[in-house]
Amino acid sequence: MHTDAEKKIYVAGHRGMVGSAIVRELKRRGHTNLIYRTRQELDLTDQAAVRHFFETEKPDQIYLAAAKVGGIHANNTYPAEFIYENLMVQNNVIHQGFLSGVKKILFLGSSCIYPKLAPQPMREDALLTGKLEPTNEPYAIAKIAGIKLCESYNRQYGQSHGVDYRSAMPTNLYGPGDNYHPENSHVIPALIFRFHEAKKNNQAEVVIWGTGSPMREFLYVDDMAKASIFVMEMDQKLYQNSVQVQQNHINVGFGSDITIANLAQLIAKVVDYKGRIVFDSSRPDGAPKKLMDSSKLKDIGWTPQVSLESGLVTTYREFMKDHELS
Ligand SMILES: NC(=O)c1ccc[n+]([C@@H]2O[C@H](COP(=O)([O-])OP(=O)(O)OC[C@H]3O[C@@H](n4cnc5c(N)ncnc54)[C@H](OP(=O)(O)O)[C@@H]3O)[C@@H](O)[C@H]2O)c1
Repeated sequence: MHTDAEKKIYVAGHRGMVGSAIVRELKRRGHTNLIYRTRQELDLTDQAAVRHFFETEKPDQIYLAAAKVGGIHANNTYPAEFIYENLMVQNNVIHQGFLSGVKKILFLGSSCIYPKLAPQPMREDALLTGKLEPTNEPYAIAKIAGIKLCESYNRQYGQSHGVDYRSAMPTNLYGPGDNYHPENSHVIPALIFRFHEAKKNNQAEVVIWGTGSPMREFLYVDDMAKASIFVMEMDQKLYQNSVQVQQNHINVGFGSDITIANLAQLIAKVVDYKGRIVFDSSRPDGAPKKLMDSSKLKDIGWTPQVSLESGLVTTYREFMKDHELS
């Protein structure tokens, strides 16, 4: 029997933003038996390879942070890859993990599982109550299937095999290791990159799509890693009492949101860009508000620690290091 620190934990997606933060946090807590594979070593869409990996390694726990992730443009351009790869990765990891005897899995979803017009803030029980945002529907459908996989394995094999698979739904995340691709990135890395370039090139203004009025919520990735471990380690009775058998997921948010205009100003301040910020209101805005209701997790005892401003300062410092910029 492994002690807590010796538990063999597989972090899938350990080189990604969330996976690497989970690894950092587990190491900080003294875990000594972490395992991971790069995509080159183990393509998680490859069922036979994943089966062989689990048969050989037999981990005790899995953090499933591997996924194909991207912004609106990427979701719109590669919908087939988003649905196929995400379904394959989660099917393989959850099913082959189960076959090899893994009792605990934490699956990471996303706030886009909720209907486009879900009441704000979005509660866990908004799932499957309405139509999804069409742009990222394929991705969201895969994530919903992941939640349902965990629930179904618990229902069928919870008693007989002692499986306890859980799902956490993070809001928008940011932090070290984010994706700064000029076309495929989320709003925070995109704005950091653009303000940084504008400062470097003495650009007088930066134009941002939309009116700047939509409100969005952002959580620092190290807080997400702590929340993931919190949800994974939570007492089973407490978890089961907090969720429902067929609504087994739990939201992880920051708890408040900010307008895109204020976010842009904050990022300009952190980057020290002194030019003008112009909003191009002829461009689409997206949903006026997207905020998670994270009261369930808060009531159980977890709250985020890192403010948006201090998270952005650390993120920009890491961006500079990674890109060897000054
Ligand atoms: N970022 C956010 O704002 C956000 C918000 C809500 C939820 N989430 C969820 O959090 C999880 C992690 O997201 P993230 O932001 O950390 O994404 P990320 O930085 O893109 O990391 C994903 C990781 O998964 C790996 N991966 C993808 N497909 C794979 C495959 N076929 N075989 C092996 N490895 C594979 C990637 O490997 P490569 O490096 O080789 O590509 C990468 O290391 C995802 O489930 C996502 O839905 C993220």
